[in-house]
Amino acid sequence: VIEARVDSLLQLMTLEEKIGQMTQFSANWSITGPVMSDDFKPYLEKGLIGSIFNATSVEGIRSFQKYAVDSTRLGIPILFGQDVIHGYKTIFPMPLAEACSWDLELIRRSAEIAAIEASSDGINWTFAPMVDISRDARWGRVMEGAGEDPYLGSKIAKARVAGFQGSDDGSRIGDLNTILATAKHMAAYGAAEAGRDYNTAELSEHTLRNVYLPTYQAAVKAGVATIMTSFNEINGVPATADRWLLTDLLRDEWGFRGFVVTDYTSINELVPHGVANDEKHAAELALNAGVDMDMTGATFIKYLSQSVEDGNVRIEDIDNAARRIIEMKFLLGLFDDPYRYLNEERAKQNTMTPEFMATARRAVASSVVLLKNDNDLLPILKESGKTIALIGPMIKDSINLNGEWAGLGDRNQSLSIFNGLNEKYKNSSVNFIYSEGSSITETTPSKIDEAVATANKADIIIAAVGESFHWSGEAAVRTDIRLPEPQRELLRALKETGRPIVIIILSGRPLDLSFENENMDAILQAWFPGTQAGHGIADVIAGDYNPSGRLVMSFPRNVGQIPIYYNQKNTGRPVDLSDEKVDYRSSYIDSSITPLYPFGYGLSYTTFEIGDVKLNKSSMQATNDSIEVTAMIRNTGNRNGELVAQLYIRDLVGSTTRPIKELKGFKKVALNAGETKEISFILTSEDLAFYGIDMKKRTEPGKFKLWVSQNSMDISNEAEFSVE
Ligand code: IFM
Repeated sequence: VIEARVDSLLQLMTLEEKIGQMTQFSANWSITGPVMSDDFKPYLEKGLIGSIFNATSVEGIRSFQKYAVDSTRLGIPILFGQDVIHGYKTIFPMPLAEACSWDLELIRRSAEIAAIEASSDGINWTFAPMVDISRDARWGRVMEGAGEDPYLGSKIAKARVAGFQGSDDGSRIGDLNTILATAKHMAAYGAAEAGRDYNTAELSEHTLRNVYLPTYQAAVKAGVATIMTSFNEINGVPATADRWLLTDLLRDEWGFRGFVVTDYTSINELVPHGVANDEKHAAELALNAGVDMDMTGATFIKYLSQSVEDGNVRIEDIDNAARRIIEMKFLLGLFDDPYRYLNEERAKQNTMTPEFMATARRAVASSVVLLKNDNDLLPILKESGKTIALIGPMIKDSINLNGEWAGLGDRNQSLSIFNGLNEKYKNSSVNFIYSEGSSITETTPSKIDEAVATANKADIIIAAVGESFHWSGEAAVRTDIRLPEPQRELLRALKETGRPIVIIILSGRPLDLSFENENMDAILQAWFPGTQAGHGIADVIAGDYNPSGRLVMSFPRNVGQIPIYYNQKNTGRPVDLSDEKVDYRSSYIDSSITPLYPFGYGLSYTTFEIGDVKLNKSSMQATNDSIEVTAMIRNTGNRNGELVAQLYIRDLVGSTTRPIKELKGFKKVALNAGETKEISFILTSEDLAFYGIDMKKRTEPGKFKLWVSQNSMDISNEAEFSVE
């Protein structure tokens, strides 16, 4: 039915009106709400805009929609987009943090909540999830993704798409509480050289297909409505002009049926990239590559009609692009009722509800990763009677807590760690004293002295330290990923007091924590946790929540190790980790090759053991077969807790070299103190497939190793099997 309606509408449209549908602009803001900017007003008046983003609030969106529907020739409704990345008004932990929960249900629910809040405000479409594999902590956008691993990244991509769109097959698009999702940024944006944003990505098709592309494909399989092209070039071709990527692969090979939007002005940027003579040429390259919508660059609307006349683009391609966009508007029900998402009452009821806040609080607690906990310094029990010095630039801070890309989250409403702890321990025997110590970037000797004096009166120090939220996100790249020197100076001075120190780290990326690992007693990596920061962190510190987060990016020992990731290749001269000093090996002369904290790592207030790994058979066929792997897991400590059991494999010999480990399954399991459970994984022959020497995806026969582990460097539970 929709197809017929789209066809009849297309027949009424002029070429220019079709190109108008392929044009997106960003609204400007005034104190009264979103406003039309002068550059796009004339287009809106002629019905030549398909989508607007950054127009928020029911009232603001209604005014644009009313204009489009009532005052343009065909009255085609507008599609409203927005960067709803980790929450809309209830802000969840930044996506990299949330990924550390390894909790797909929770991740899906947080996207669902974001969709409920955003759709209630009239938003139809988010530019999320960001699914770029990230192996370089210098890059500021690592905060938005799910880390370094294609397997975990694909599961999380699917969960996030399902959360936004209401299902993992695209079948619920148009349900009132859902929004369209975008898998971005295709492709390999995370592979930018030296971690510099927008920079060149140079990588083989082999690495592209085996490492960088699976997450986008997982989103496509989950029915993602749109794909955003990336700013970078890949092997000499900017993604926005890459026909192989956007048409041969995305549409013909993967069967993607939604529409492709560019990143912000990335068509115009084909000129400085040096593949287009001018913007008209750039628009032609983008359309011919497979782009359907131009984000803010206005190149399609300015030039494509002429390009048709010049014979440089095909009218069928314009028809197809317009058709895909209009079809999405039909699916959303906008043609039946352009105002169906706009209802002030619904917006009020669906914003920051107690359930949303409770889920966000749980998300904070389960995203925190306990990196170190000497002498079981944490948790600090309410009945412990301790005096605790709360110190550091982030302890009372609320402005940074949401991190970047935090939607419409009110930064002043995010609960500080200071307030969260005070609330948690009120009416307890724990007593807090406070001193700031330093700002994020500046040392004041008198402040350090005051902090030391405060610390000297305490039994335990809790110092909250970290990055400003502006230091991660787009175009926020660091070459030194340590804590700023003034904060390290503060920590050095606190160390001198001899008091045990817990540090809470707020950051948008993995930092080089070598100094802190050496000198601090306990380290909690709390990322940027969002609205419920103070409560979620206090839950962990008091032991009301036993930390269960596990890293999804390796933490380097120093910036020189970057890029660092667990699923690296062996090389012809691998290092023997028991003696890294042996000459002429693939090692460093001034550092270990191992990360400070590996992928999959994280401590708990209890301890776990994994054992008795068994396979139900020792070999499987290369297609349509599987092996069941079972293991016994045990909570060996005296607190209840959650273990993330991780299944890794190694394909020992391939037609091309294979990673030394690859994650192929995981289970997050709650175990009471002393409890033992059996877990099982089904490893299919398809799980083992990869693009080999002939660039065909298949499972190659041969021998494999397998581990059920607590992190990617844990090799204690090994087994073997083969593929016939
Ligand atoms: O969605 C974003 C993208 O990730 C980076 N450039 C701007 C877009 C729209 O805000």
